[in-house]
Amino acid sequence: MEKKEMLYEGKAKKVYATEDPQLLIVDYKDDATAFNGLKKGTIEGKGIINNQMSNRLMQHLEKVGVPTHFVRELSDRETLVKKVSIVPLEVIVRNIAAGSFSKRYGVEEGKVFTHPVVEFSYKNDSLGDPLLNTDHALALGLATPEEIGTIEAYARMVDDFLRNFWSSCGITLVDFKVEFGRLSDGTIVLADEISPDTCRLWDSKTGEKLDKDRFRRDLGGVEDAYAEVMRRLVAHDQ
Ligand code: TMP
Repeated sequence: MEKKEMLYEGKAKKVYATEDPQLLIVDYKDDATAFNGLKKGTIEGKGIINNQMSNRLMQHLEKVGVPTHFVRELSDRETLVKKVSIVPLEVIVRNIAAGSFSKRYGVEEGKVFTHPVVEFSYKNDSLGDPLLNTDHALALGLATPEEIGTIEAYARMVDDFLRNFWSSCGITLVDFKVEFGRLSDGTIVLADEISPDTCRLWDSKTGEKLDKDRFRRDLGGVEDAYAEVMRRLVAHDQ
């Protein structure tokens, strides 16, 4: 399958058309941004890791009943995916307080929740991705009530799977963000990516951060952290 014209360039990926109108090629970049693009940088080799990690995790998720856009890995950085129209919701699931939750509600990072928190943001860079609830999403016409129900159920299934999966790699899943899309027949599938760019992952023994917070917070060792997560995932899958 060959790349045709570039349809879209995002902060971390480029998306290309293919000869099949139902299929796209995603090309992962090493570019990293934070704080809605205010901070810019490069994480050497990140595109390769995020491509391969996301693909492996999506194949696991398919097996536990979460449909995804994944079709086939084409190269180090390129993957064939089903074309979707993205539901403009950033779906965040939190198991432990961190990041914007800690800031907004004045809760220390590291507080473990007894019940995972599902949160939606309106995927809109010019508004700074504002937090919203289901009624807001319905009022804005972002999705139907049925779609929101499906999305929340899938997000909780993703959390259940990933929490256990990372735990068996010695990694604590703090929180993550996922996005969903509609296929041409309206079916909701998991889209975008699952990687250290989109998850908070802490070493279970030391608490060391193994994710994009190392870049956001200038902690150093960013490339090593991504490589360590990938190494543990590959070891787990063998
Ligand atoms: P937050 O605490 O900054 O709201 O982030 C929650 C989770 O979502 C965290 O795992 C990082 C991820 N995330 C993204 O993937 N993209 C984003 O643009 C933001 C703000 C967070």
